[in-house]
Amino acid sequence: MSWYDGAKRDLPWRETKDPYCIWLSEIILQQTRVDQGMPYYERFVAVFPTVHDLANATEDEVLKLWEGLGYYSRARNLHATAKFVAVELDGKFPSTHEGLLALKGIGPYTAAAIGSIAFNLAAAAVDGNVYRVLARFYGISASIDDTSTKNEISRLANEIVTEERAGDHNQAMMELGATVCTPKQPSCKVCPLSVACAAYRLGLQSALPVRTKKTKVRERFFYYTIHLVDGQVPLKRRGDGDIWHGLYEFPLFESDCRLSEQDLIDKLVSNNQLLSISEEYKHILSHQRILGQFLVLSGSTRPEGNYTWVNVNDLSKFALPRLLNRYLEKSFFVINEEVSNL
Ligand code: ADE
Repeated sequence: MSWYDGAKRDLPWRETKDPYCIWLSEIILQQTRVDQGMPYYERFVAVFPTVHDLANATEDEVLKLWEGLGYYSRARNLHATAKFVAVELDGKFPSTHEGLLALKGIGPYTAAAIGSIAFNLAAAAVDGNVYRVLARFYGISASIDDTSTKNEISRLANEIVTEERAGDHNQAMMELGATVCTPKQPSCKVCPLSVACAAYRLGLQSALPVRTKKTKVRERFFYYTIHLVDGQVPLKRRGDGDIWHGLYEFPLFESDCRLSEQDLIDKLVSNNQLLSISEEYKHILSHQRILGQFLVLSGSTRPEGNYTWVNVNDLSKFALPRLLNRYLEKSFFVINEEVSNL
């Protein structure tokens, strides 16, 4: 704790005890690293200063603000929980571990983090960083992908969490994992725990923690047609049961294998005119690898299906998957130029 007092980073959510702000920060940090999460946190707090403001937002507004963080069901859970707290709990977050756990999008880790930081509840918040710190400190060589190992580490973590300053204790553990006890090349020389660390004593820092699970990665090939008609392009909202639920996209043709340019032209251009075809964009998710390519078309044969036709200059008002924004950031001028040429 004294190491933390001297070494902790100044982070905006560390300047408040407001459970709403702590909750926002924890949901964002489930999804991304501190440096990437910070601007999202600042924007959420600025646009929705209270749980009531977030509850009264539309889903599209919430998704737009979440845009780029990925895993959009988290944003929908965030919104649902804000509505629940605002309406059913009179705007007050539960102050017990069980009460927090009952909220959508809050699991044991997040309940312990919010409970300890906002309400000083003595429950250990054990995330990936903390599993690593403790597996090294105690010299645990069983795989941390096994539930029994995770349970054992949780038990140890709950033994050492202090009644006093529980939130600081949990954040000190996270901070140590994020800044000192890093996955590769940990900075043991400056670590306050090295004097008693089993991995340090035995030189096993890079061998611990042990992982066994290999995640299977599914490859998906997304071919988007950006069909320009009178300066407008078609967009459709993605449905549920798949990635990017609630986000908008261009007409999509999906394939489970890579298609050649000629295949794409045969399949997707029909009697329209092909204006450009992009390089392949890669987007990595935890269990999927999305490979996206974009064809810009003009001509009178419109795509079949229910599309909203949107002015190309209004595209930024819609929450789009990061893959599409990366393409647009690089190639929007291509589209704009084609619009003025048409
Ligand atoms: N990761 C998750 N919660 C965090 C917090 N409160 N501070 C820093 N990193 C975190």
